[in-house]
Amino acid sequence: MSKPDRFFLAGVMGWPVMHSRSPMLHNYWFQKHGLAGSYVPLAIRPEGLKAALRALAPLGFAGCNLTIPHKQEAMTIVDEVDRLAKSIGAISCVVVRPDGSLAGTNNDCYGFIHSIKQERPYWRADAGPAVVVGAGGGARAVCYGLIQEGVKEIRLLNRSAERAKAIADEFGGPIKPLPWEQRNDAMEGAALVVNTTSQGMVGQPALDIKLDKLATSALVADIIYIPLETPFLAAARKRGNRTINGLGMLLHQARPAWKAWFGIEPDVTAELRAMVEKTI
Ligand SMILES: NC(=O)c1ccc[n+]([C@@H]2O[C@H](COP(=O)([O-])OP(=O)(O)OC[C@H]3O[C@@H](n4cnc5c(N)ncnc54)[C@H](OP(=O)(O)O)[C@@H]3O)[C@@H](O)[C@H]2O)c1
Repeated sequence: MSKPDRFFLAGVMGWPVMHSRSPMLHNYWFQKHGLAGSYVPLAIRPEGLKAALRALAPLGFAGCNLTIPHKQEAMTIVDEVDRLAKSIGAISCVVVRPDGSLAGTNNDCYGFIHSIKQERPYWRADAGPAVVVGAGGGARAVCYGLIQEGVKEIRLLNRSAERAKAIADEFGGPIKPLPWEQRNDAMEGAALVVNTTSQGMVGQPALDIKLDKLATSALVADIIYIPLETPFLAAARKRGNRTINGLGMLLHQARPAWKAWFGIEPDVTAELRAMVEKTI
């Protein structure tokens, strides 16, 4: 039960930010847990990020999430960036510590892996090679999570080869960067394929890739959630592959944030998912 003398605050900083589904999901949890509090969208211009982050503590915020375009710049502002966020190269969550200092972490990796585990509990990291398409911040979180889970081979394909190579150099081990031209052939023998590019998102053309060589037993995921079914996922579903969209990643990345901010581990329920889906 909430203490009457405390109003719990958190939010998401972005520019633009009003499209974000985060306020809806966090405010659902405030209600479910009977906490007096609010999660607000904070439209922060890039030049205002430092002042906005520094205002969190005096305003009484427990922390905030960060979305485009702040995830990288925030790393230079907060007082401490954990190892995970450093490896991914981006902060998705800021926690205000008791002394008012700011700690940055990245929960996207947790979100992706736990989305798979909730939606496809039979999924096994050692089922076979994974194909990851894209090499931006989302790809880094996905690759990091897959490596932690024990995936032995990640075929990484990106339009700009140098970004895939940079991930391979930094993460090492299982990451095998392949030329963009080989993206259709890379499907052969894969157990998991993940689109982490922006292609297929609302307003963007479909991802230019063919799934002909992919086994129908493979799991196909997209981290995009607007639309819920991208052309890439629709093509996979039509040929018989099981699919996962990006909404689960968004919902699950919010759980460790709540744990850090309010000491509570909320659940990603069917009711929550349906409520957010209705707005997409
Ligand atoms: N579900 C979630 O919680 C979640 C979390 C994070 C991100 N996302 C989504 O994931 C997507 C990517 O986000 P991000 O932060 O990783 O973005 P980013 O860092 O800007 O990376 C964008 C990626 O898309 C590729 N790309 C862009 N245009 C392309 C084209 N015409 N053909 C092929 N590849 C193209 C880029 O390739 P180049 O390197 O060649 O430019 C790069 O790999 C967005 O839709 C975002 O909303 C979802």
